Amino acid sequence: MKKDFLTLKDYSADEIEYILNLSLEIKKDKDSYCNILKGKNIAILFDKHSTRTRLSFEVGINQLGGNVIVLDAKSLQLGRGESYIDTAKVFSLYLDGVIIRTFSQETLEIFAKYGSIPVINGLTDTYHPCQVLADMLTLKELGMLNKKIKFTYIGDSNNVTNSLIIGFSKLGIDITIGCPEKYSPAKEILEYAESQKNGSKVNIINNPVDAVRDADVIYTDVWFSMGQEMDDKKLEELEKYQINSDLLKYAKKEVKIMHCLPAHTGQEITSEVLYGENSIVLKQAENRLHAQKGLLVYIYGKLYRENKK
Ligand code: CP
Ligand code: NVA
Repeated sequence: MKKDFLTLKDYSADEIEYILNLSLEIKKDKDSYCNILKGKNIAILFDKHSTRTRLSFEVGINQLGGNVIVLDAKSLQLGRGESYIDTAKVFSLYLDGVIIRTFSQETLEIFAKYGSIPVINGLTDTYHPCQVLADMLTLKELGMLNKKIKFTYIGDSNNVTNSLIIGFSKLGIDITIGCPEKYSPAKEILEYAESQKNGSKVNIINNPVDAVRDADVIYTDVWFSMGQEMDDKKLEELEKYQINSDLLKYAKKEVKIMHCLPAHTGQEITSEVLYGENSIVLKQAENRLHAQKGLLVYIYGKLYRENKK
């Protein structure tokens, strides 16, 4: 039964595609699978701020008939130093699953190892897999989740970038990363993409104009992720990588602009572009709900795995 979602590495390309198709089916009919989580109690344990992830999981679990318990890490005994190992073991006695947003990926791994319930990554410093499921769903709906597109992520290489690289390489789709060399994705992420051996490439391009040239999609995220200090030097180093109307001129006219939100307008993107006609950021936010419902139905419905046996 246990089927953790700690990173997109945990799921095969077939499983990802299955979840995306399921999410589309659920999106078309809001009441489908409305009892699949009946009698299930799923906790949300977040150490960092959240609007979209928290709300979309709360609403999604409710729509699937389950009960959500939103926990405040500080008021649990965790806040007084109880170990994650003991917490994971105790959670497993009462709950059917937990969605965790925290700093270290290792914390999630500990939870998954010592608990017996599915653990879902609601964001760590290293990965944001639920976001990327929703991003893939958004592109799929637009008929753009395919090997022909030029997809460029530009700016700081962070948790969202890592999950995009892993997800795209799993599906065999090329991804271009536009960033200063200093802010390139970590070696192990690039090695993982390479290990997929399906011919897809991660192209790292330091010149922002070349990175977005003829792009079908340009994606960005904040330059200072939660937990990072604002730093003037980094601001200066990334200045040329801002998505603004000048940079957009080099992409295709109908280029789609993506951002996981929240955005810091005036830094990684201008408000003109974020709210402009090419932006699909609200579609991404909306699809958080549908992609996560697809994920939950997959985990708890055991549909696909049972069919495969
Ligand atoms: N994109 C995203 O994860 O948003 P929240 O931080 O609001 O959950
Ligand atoms: N990279 C950002 C994503 C927020 C959803 C952060 O970790 O703060």
